[in-house]
Amino acid sequence: MTLRITKLHPLFAARVEGIDIARGFSDAAFAELRAAFEEHSVIVLPGQALDDDQQIDFSKRFGPLEMMLPHAGNNMNPGHISRMYNAEEDGSIIPPEDRRMIYLTANRIWHTDSSFKEVPSLCSLLHARIVPPEGGETEFASMRAAYDALDDETRALIAGKVAMHHAARTRDMVAPDLVSPERRAKPPVRHAMVRTNPVNARKALYTGGHAGKIEGMNDTEAEALLNDLLDHATQPQFTYAHKWQIGDIVIWDNRAVLHRGRPWNETIHKRILHRTTVAGDGPTV
Ligand SMILES: [Fe+2]
Repeated sequence: MTLRITKLHPLFAARVEGIDIARGFSDAAFAELRAAFEEHSVIVLPGQALDDDQQIDFSKRFGPLEMMLPHAGNNMNPGHISRMYNAEEDGSIIPPEDRRMIYLTANRIWHTDSSFKEVPSLCSLLHARIVPPEGGETEFASMRAAYDALDDETRALIAGKVAMHHAARTRDMVAPDLVSPERRAKPPVRHAMVRTNPVNARKALYTGGHAGKIEGMNDTEAEALLNDLLDHATQPQFTYAHKWQIGDIVIWDNRAVLHRGRPWNETIHKRILHRTTVAGDGPTV
């Protein structure tokens, strides 16, 4: 073992030390890291000094990257890096009523990245460039722990079921005009409600803010069930809130956790995080 792994929560999430991404590392060390990712779902690598190109190169070790769609949150510039920021290049704080800030508040709703795509993300990597002294955590919920704690009746109810996901669902919770007409016109995508990890066969609930209807169930029943599942899955015993330090890179398994950003005093303190997103290897159904 070349890596030191320290659990951050009894059920999931671990800090991994012994890798300096900028200096490079062996294939064997990456294999250990990848195994830790499959095991713990959320990996924190502290103290990484990285620029965007280094973050992109490192992220590609996990698989091909997603291309971000141009939207108000990334200044309409598509690319592999999505910037979460509340300060302009000149250092001035962006006011909360700015459209870019409003767009980012959709990240405060529990979700799994890209579940509105037919092939959703494998994992996301978020690197802390500037962090506020308090607040602004990223909170994670273990969907394996949540699945394990479901009663038999609920497990039977969702077995083999397919939910419909659409990006507009979370954006509409923030403001009615955040989603472009083109994006809204895209059909929802179908996803399995339970996903099985290909390495260790652990099952995870797959849901979140983008999920709306369920195939074969009337809309009222489906909405009630999805709300109940989300309430169940995000109970405190299944969640870990990451308090950011500059240089942290956090990698999370979008197949096995939900996440959300937490508020901070954004009119006073800056927070800049850069995200890369690794594509999944196929549809979930
Ligand atoms: Fe996200």
